[in-house]
Amino acid sequence: MNIVLLGAPGAGKGTQAQKLVAEYGVAHISTGDLLRNAVKAQSELGKQAKSYMDAGQLVPDSLVVDLVKERLAEPDAQKGWILDGFPRNTAQAEVLDQMLDAEGIKLDAALAVVVEFGVIINRLSSRRTCKSCGYTAGPEVEVCPRCGGEMYQRDDDKPETIQKRLDTYQNQTAPLIGYYKEQGKLLEVDGDRPVDEVYADVKKLLGL
Ligand code: AP5
Repeated sequence: MNIVLLGAPGAGKGTQAQKLVAEYGVAHISTGDLLRNAVKAQSELGKQAKSYMDAGQLVPDSLVVDLVKERLAEPDAQKGWILDGFPRNTAQAEVLDQMLDAEGIKLDAALAVVVEFGVIINRLSSRRTCKSCGYTAGPEVEVCPRCGGEMYQRDDDKPETIQKRLDTYQNQTAPLIGYYKEQGKLLEVDGDRPVDEVYADVKKLLGL
């Protein structure tokens, strides 16, 4: 299974990816998680990425592409992967196509999780994320059920940054819906329903 997950911030990409990973054992490659880890580790990449993330903007392609290349080469990704948060603009999608072509790897589908912006703003303002493993849940979850880590509110889940992230999505990432439609790879799921209902449809669409 090699899948790209598309959708606005907070549409539920990470939530659906977590479920697919738990059931099918594929690698979850979230560029947001990779970047947040780099920020936490205060690496050179993390220092450069932080200001873009805090402003709700995309981190420059040159920083993100190498991160994805390295992650795709890791052993656990050889069984299949879910790319969550990458590609995020047409240039990244073209680089991904070239990377996969060069390795003879086929992208099975680009699955878009569709949710209206109004719903998303409520979800993101109440989201909590695990400091250790990136697991996400609502504010009622205080301890990560996956690793016992501390749940916190991401800096970019503050109301002023959420709106900027939605603008960035609309301007730069939404065109990828058309990009993958043209390739005949686009699948769409209504993400504004209970998580398990969305997941049941995701599996149907992916033929699982
Ligand atoms: P990233 O971490 O990728 O954030 P995002 O795309 O904004 O996605 P989110 O993680 O916010 O949302 P999600 O769709 O995964 O939703 P979730 O499942 O958590 O990126 C962060 C930043 O990093 C970017 O702004 C950018 O700066 C940088 N970056 C990352 N990738 C980049 C790239 N390729 N190029 C350049 N820069 C990049 O769900 C949200 C909440 O809703 C949770 O609380 C969840 O519990 C809840 N929820 C989920 N599904 C449902 C449901 N069906 N019903 C009710 N609640 C639900």
